[in-house]
Amino acid sequence: MEFCNNTFRWGDYINEVWDTWYSDRNGALMVAEIKSNNIGVNHTKSSMTAAAPEHRITSIITQVVGVSHAYVCPKRKEVWLEGIRVNPKYRRTGIASQLLDQMIKYGKGIDSNIGEATAIAAQTNAISRSMLVKNDFQERAKWTYYTGYKENDHQGNRDGVPIRKYILPNNQGEVPNDNASSCSGNTGVSFATANDIDNIISFLSRSRTFISSGKRYVQSWKWYELDLEHSSISALIACKKIIIVRTRNIQEVEGLAITNNRTRENYQTEQLQSGNQRRKQVTSEEADSVNRADEGSFQIVYLDAPTLTSLENLLGFIVNWAISSSKFDRIQLFTPNQIHPEKSDFYDTQDVLAKFGISRSECFLLYVRSI
Ligand SMILES: CC(C)(COP(=O)(O)OP(=O)(O)OC[C@H]1O[C@@H](n2cnc3c(N)ncnc32)[C@H](O)[C@@H]1OP(=O)(O)O)[C@@H](O)C(=O)NCCC(=O)NCCS
Repeated sequence: MEFCNNTFRWGDYINEVWDTWYSDRNGALMVAEIKSNNIGVNHTKSSMTAAAPEHRITSIITQVVGVSHAYVCPKRKEVWLEGIRVNPKYRRTGIASQLLDQMIKYGKGIDSNIGEATAIAAQTNAISRSMLVKNDFQERAKWTYYTGYKENDHQGNRDGVPIRKYILPNNQGEVPNDNASSCSGNTGVSFATANDIDNIISFLSRSRTFISSGKRYVQSWKWYELDLEHSSISALIACKKIIIVRTRNIQEVEGLAITNNRTRENYQTEQLQSGNQRRKQVTSEEADSVNRADEGSFQIVYLDAPTLTSLENLLGFIVNWAISSSKFDRIQLFTPNQIHPEKSDFYDTQDVLAKFGISRSECFLLYVRSI
């Protein structure tokens, strides 16, 4: 699998996820193989196969020339496609397109009700984008990924600027201690409680940013649909994953962020609430592996701030939270394009985030195909 080592300027992550993808109970690791007697001579599309590794015929006369991972999303509405890599020597011969077909077939085979296949591509990856378009995927949303590091992590700070508290004129967003819910009401920014569910649903139903996001939030680099159902919002709130900013007087939701602050405790609550009987007993090993993956990073996986004030207040809270907790050394922030309501001041998200020491890393486009 040497061809997966240096795919991008920064390298690649395939070797890190290989074992997890291989043993994934909700997904399949696909490989495309080519018969070695065809290599470089007469190889044709018909000589390639894509199959889960356990089903392939292992033979010295075959060579793996492509790889990808398909994952059936928890609510079984969609199959997520990721990690498509083709050996540079065999590109532009239809291998990735065959992998896409096989991944879709796999998803449909698991559950014929799955209605969509989804994938993301970096905006700068023109080849990947045209591969998806050529295979009937449509662009659905644009998201931007930002990162910010604490002072003690010099390597990570892109522009040499660590995340920092930006003092807001009205001093909102302060987090005095580890019990942030105690801020509720007074500062206007807090983790949401069960009393906020209706307001949150009403806010998101009206939000043009939510529509433009593809109605999604991010989990482990997968963009999942967020159902505006009482139970879904309640589950997020139970894990302290929704931060809201309220309007000053009326106490309605004026903006919100969803975090993926996955502690062991959160993970266990999520599993219990998912109603998945088989997984009710979360082993410490599973919880540990989750913690290891997300450790040290305070993730914002959806951001919706229609006004500059709501954005500044949310960020004040988020940054203070990350800085005041020894558990985090960086912030990762995934945000859809912010759509500003008419009559409200335009702001540039990147400029505002820069004031908090959080810089833009990459733009991603979400692609969807009905299947
Ligand atoms: C993107 C990638 C997987 C495509 O693999 P591939 O096997 O060459 O793709 P296919 O042969 O199936 O091509 C399908 C379509 O993609 C587009 N495409 C592929 N390579 C292209 C290129 N170099 N320039 C422009 N379009 C290209 C074309 O529309 C092509 O259809 P066509 O050949 O009929 O015109 C491969 O280039 C790769 O491994 N890149 C590095 C990793 C990567 O970026 N992965 C995607 C992450 S989401």
